[in-house]
Amino acid sequence: MAPDTILNIAELRSTVARWRAAGEKVAFVPTMGALHDGHLSLVLLARAEGARVIVSIFVNPLQFGPTEDFARYPRTLKDDVEKLKIVGADVVFAPAAAEIYPIGFQTSVINKKMSHGLCGKFRPGHFDGVLTVVLKLLNIVSPDLALFGKKDYQQWRLIERMALDLELPLEIRGCDTVREKDGLAMSSRNRYMSAEEREESTLIYKGLSAARAAWQGGERSRGKLLAAFSDSISRCPRMTIQYAEIVDCFSLEPAIGQVADKNLVMIVAVLFGDVRLIDNLEF
Ligand code: PAF
Repeated sequence: MAPDTILNIAELRSTVARWRAAGEKVAFVPTMGALHDGHLSLVLLARAEGARVIVSIFVNPLQFGPTEDFARYPRTLKDDVEKLKIVGADVVFAPAAAEIYPIGFQTSVINKKMSHGLCGKFRPGHFDGVLTVVLKLLNIVSPDLALFGKKDYQQWRLIERMALDLELPLEIRGCDTVREKDGLAMSSRNRYMSAEEREESTLIYKGLSAARAAWQGGERSRGKLLAAFSDSISRCPRMTIQYAEIVDCFSLEPAIGQVADKNLVMIVAVLFGDVRLIDNLEF
């Protein structure tokens, strides 16, 4: 059965209230649409919990910088609904911007620490926009469980932190990154790449895997582990590393000198012209 598409907050809330009255569990997968197997895997995980599943599709203007790809971000609602039908989502919540940010809207969620490094350094304000919309969506949907892909590792950890700091009564779950056969992490932005760039993009996962293999082989020098990644990227001269860091997987504090023996994640962002790809691997 095709999921119901709901456009307004009141209708979404009354649907959830009906489910709650019947004692059902509610799971939520927030997205910006242009769905791929990574998103669909979150829906399947939610269904495996026996929950009703709501997927939001909202390209959130607040999380895009003035020179970023808000205008060209793919909007593919019809296709998305077809895909969600196959995996069995119950509801697609696809509000207009004015529903989420009506005239007079002026409140934000600001993270004061973990949002400053990694992607946050290059996308000022991005995570405040993410946290603001996610908190709003969570307040609208009031799920028991919300699922996020670990591909956006910093985003996931920030949302988890927000839920702790603000006492949100739900489980935030980070779920494994879904990859193409050649290792590229699935992303709605992968479609921006030319065929040649798509081929070269596999160097990102190869580089991360080389670093992890070195770590598994006993290497603990941060410099050498980062070099294992950059050696891979340097095989494509058109690709530049925006950042590559090895951080504590909970606090996202960078490792210095020698890295720790556990709880590490390598997080990277790579640029090809104006295409920006992020990825990470837990060690
Ligand atoms: O990861 C995304 O698609 C977005 O950042 C999210 C969590 C849906 C908030 O707009």
